[in-house]
Amino acid sequence: MTRRLLDVDDLSVEELETVLGVAAGRVPDPGRPLDGKGVALVFEKASNRTRNSCEMAVVALGGHPVTIQSAEVGIDSRESAEDVARSLGCFHSIVCARVMAHGTLERMAGALDHAGVPVVNLLSDRAHPCQAIADVATIRQLFGPDDPTAHPVAFVGDANNVWRSLALAAAMVGIPTRVASPPGFGPTDEDVARIVGLGGEVVVTDDPREAVAGAGVVYTDVWTSMGQESERSARLAAFAGYTVDEDLVALAASDAIVLHCLPAHRGEEITAGVLEGPRSAVWEQAANRMHAMRGVFTWLAYAGLREPLDDPVTGRSIPAPGPGGADHRGHR
Ligand code: CP
Ligand code: NVA
Repeated sequence: MTRRLLDVDDLSVEELETVLGVAAGRVPDPGRPLDGKGVALVFEKASNRTRNSCEMAVVALGGHPVTIQSAEVGIDSRESAEDVARSLGCFHSIVCARVMAHGTLERMAGALDHAGVPVVNLLSDRAHPCQAIADVATIRQLFGPDDPTAHPVAFVGDANNVWRSLALAAAMVGIPTRVASPPGFGPTDEDVARIVGLGGEVVVTDDPREAVAGAGVVYTDVWTSMGQESERSARLAAFAGYTVDEDLVALAASDAIVLHCLPAHRGEEITAGVLEGPRSAVWEQAANRMHAMRGVFTWLAYAGLREPLDDPVTGRSIPAPGPGGADHRGHR
């Protein structure tokens, strides 16, 4: 089966380390593994960081990014998601998409499986794996990789796409997590089972103070995600008391950092004082989005070649992802 990155646990732990190693510059310069290759970036929703980090990562690796707003191709209106994906796979070595419904990505990946063209999730209602990779890269950058258990991550807010991928990534690298959400907005039993299945640790509570006490990382995200705009007033009411403010952050470890995937709503899920304050690492985190994408695309480019190559971090062979490799040529 052609490799895909629909959520972070589509990577093995070893592959995640490869991606993080490239992101952190811990491996030799991967060169231009996308030389002459196209990467399609399809957006059904708005984006600043994801679009720009992807485009610049592709350029850094020698490839050519093509950003496509969904209205241009009309996913499931002008033609089906499958036909959009298969057509893009005729021109591009990797197809990336930000979609409303996670199932759209699964359909696109299924349609491209035979072609050996990987599909990368640039955010869906369920997952945001590229953000999570940047988040772990930021935590390691600021605390070092040596003792991941020393800096638990406390997520305060909606157990949403960003939380889910973050919790999975943290589990894969040994970082314990806590999550505090109002009733009805916390993790599902399936979420918890998935984290535990990866060897992760997650404390689920509705008390932000319990989650943040002694934490090394305090993380939050918007209360109303893209696509949930009609729920905004109900969500504002439900999340009252869950703002990451100075009093809450004071309960964290003395060297704790504050992360937010951005965009932020100052005065809702986070105060301006915390976002702009000395604990905030949100701009390092944003910058790491590009390094994370260099890691993802390098991994796919190496994994996508027909002949297995040595993993730049572990030295072990990376198996080819599918019949045609990441290059669309020869997929028929
Ligand atoms: N964090 C993030 O994905 O930002 P954008 O929505 O601006 O891409
Ligand atoms: N949870 C937010 C993240 C934006 C980067 C959303 O899905 O809109």
